[in-house]
Amino acid sequence: MNSTLNLRANASVYDDDIVRKFVAATVLWGVVGMLLGVIIALQLAWWPANLGLPWTTFGRLRPLHTNAVIFAFGGNICFAGIYYSMQRLLKTRMYSDAMSAFHFWGWQLIIVAAAVTLPLGFTQSKEYAELIWPIDVAIAVVWVVFAINFFGTLAIRKVRHLYVAIWFYMSFVITIAVLHIVNSLAVPVSLTRSYPIYAGLTDALVQWWYGHNAVGFFLTTPFLGLMYYFLPRAAERPVYSYRLSIVHFWSLVFLYIWTGPHHLLYSALPDWAQTLGMVFSIMLLAPSWGGMLNGLLTLRGAWDRVRTDPVLKFMVVAVSFYGMSTFEGPMLAIRAVNGLAHYTNWIIGHVHSGALGWNGMITFGILYWLVPRLWNRELARPGWATTHFWLATIGIVLYTLSMWVAGLTEGLMWRAVNDQGLLATPAFMDIVHRLAPYYWLRVTGGALYLTGALMMVWNLLETVRGARPQVQAIPAPAAS
Ligand code: HEM
Ligand code: HEM
Repeated sequence: MNSTLNLRANASVYDDDIVRKFVAATVLWGVVGMLLGVIIALQLAWWPANLGLPWTTFGRLRPLHTNAVIFAFGGNICFAGIYYSMQRLLKTRMYSDAMSAFHFWGWQLIIVAAAVTLPLGFTQSKEYAELIWPIDVAIAVVWVVFAINFFGTLAIRKVRHLYVAIWFYMSFVITIAVLHIVNSLAVPVSLTRSYPIYAGLTDALVQWWYGHNAVGFFLTTPFLGLMYYFLPRAAERPVYSYRLSIVHFWSLVFLYIWTGPHHLLYSALPDWAQTLGMVFSIMLLAPSWGGMLNGLLTLRGAWDRVRTDPVLKFMVVAVSFYGMSTFEGPMLAIRAVNGLAHYTNWIIGHVHSGALGWNGMITFGILYWLVPRLWNRELARPGWATTHFWLATIGIVLYTLSMWVAGLTEGLMWRAVNDQGLLATPAFMDIVHRLAPYYWLRVTGGALYLTGALMMVWNLLETVRGARPQVQAIPAPAAS
């Protein structure tokens, strides 16, 4: 009761305006990023969709898709969730409103700069780090301001205990700064061109140390922090095991940072480093599944509500996909399995079971939970949210299944030999043609996923403009 009263008293001092802004940006960039995903999926199935213009070819739109969905859609929901939950967990307003605003506008400007430069063909050609050096500098500046605001808020907190979600956020803030700065070190030769300070194999190793930890510390740890805050709030249940969440955090961050070499198996990287990446990847299964089970078991006693509450539906499927992709990942890191899967669509299937299943679904769940609270309005169309859930789920299944089958097909055909030891399918294009039906299935899955997201946009817009104020029961905080 006391904590409820405290929360009510504090509600007036929280800066929710910044959360609303980040929520709006998530929705906007999410739709743009997914639309780009559907377009590039179509281009792979039907080449005329490249439109014969340099700016709209697959090679230029693909990095635009990845940057939009990871850093714009994923980034903005992480910031929204962090600003919302941090103030409540620490019972204080953010350290500096000016810094929050700088963070918001700076980040959106960076996204716009990416949307202009990538189609024009300005790139550093490093995956997930394509943006040219002036934008890299801007990212570093905005991130440092975010970090000062984040740690400033920790310093002025009114609660001594740091709930586990905050630890996950902390690893996000610190590690992304280090990864981005180290991987972006380059010598500029003009406004749009630069050369990395690393050469050859070192460059590859630094790039994939960055690349995999972008997965680990951009698409995983902040989202786990969000899971540990929003899942108990939505289920109105305390987290299943707080002790397990702490073990989950420390083991995850310790193991993740070593796994980058699993992207360079069978390369010129020394064997011991490849083995190190493989072994740490396999060990990563344990904390990942500990976290997944902790999330699912938090719902014990609330499973009946999963049948009716779209927020919980999204969250349950999200956590389940987190489990599936973190089972598949360690398997893919085994050298022999990677020998078959690398360069094939299997990897793309793995990526999207994590991206659509885990990141996308938990984001949708959080948005449906957050928007009615932030605007103090009832969700306009709960039925549509359930339809969205089914469209998204069917979309993911179509996407991942088609890519698994496509990946195995091409992987096996590439290596198949006849009785004389010659390639059974010497013409590479014959293998490409075999993939066409799967590419079309992926277009269908992606279109369903996008349709669901568009329904969400309409639903949330109607909610925000709606006339029905929500009668809020403020539940107890996720942790005491
Ligand atoms: C409507 C939904 C989506 C569709 C149709 C879609 C489609 C695609 C396609 C066609 C590719 C290129 C695959 C290739 O090069 O062979 C791709 C790459 C990628 N997408 Fe998506 N995508 C969608 C949503 C997302 C979301 C929400 C995320 C992240 C949160 C994401 C993350 C990625 C990443 C990381 C890659 C690069 C994968 C790699 O290099 O291995 N996608 N996507
Ligand atoms: C225990 C956890 C995980 C492990 C050990 C793992 C392992 C792997 C491996 C071995 C690859 C293939 C590298 C290659 O052959 O090129 C890969 C690719 C990838 N994984 Fe995972 N994975 C894990 C979880 C996840 C999750 C949860 C996501 C998304 C949210 C994800 C996103 C990606 C992406 C984006 C790539 C493609 C990178 C690229 O080539 O561009 N992974 N992962």
